[in-house]
Amino acid sequence: GAPIEVDLSPIAEGQDIKVFWRGKPIYISHRTKKQIEEARAVPVASLPDPQSDEARVKAGHDQWLVVIGICTHLGCIPIAHEGNYDGFFCPCHGSQYDSSGRIRQGPAPANLAVPPYQFVSDTKIQIG
Ligand code: FES
Repeated sequence: GAPIEVDLSPIAEGQDIKVFWRGKPIYISHRTKKQIEEARAVPVASLPDPQSDEARVKAGHDQWLVVIGICTHLGCIPIAHEGNYDGFFCPCHGSQYDSSGRIRQGPAPANLAVPPYQFVSDTKIQIG
């Protein structure tokens, strides 16, 4: 599959969009300050799949979270803005991901994957 470009400017703070890349759903979240603070307040070592929020976003673009929307348990598509961690909830078996897409509760073994992407301008990313 070819890389895709996504214009971020229509995505309001607190909103998410879903796009498809290589047949996979990709969630792009315009995170609120609260969501960023929550993601950064949790001790990384306490996480099931320890990864800092800083390592999962692009420096200087901390408000944008880009993740592959495929649950790392058995592959269902988690729902955005659901669950106890201001992130994603998987309706299949109850995995809960936080506002950084990291697994916090439930059977999923790993964080939602971050696809390869880069900022081509302040308001546009290229995925792939
Ligand atoms: Fe998501 Fe099982 S597939 S919790």
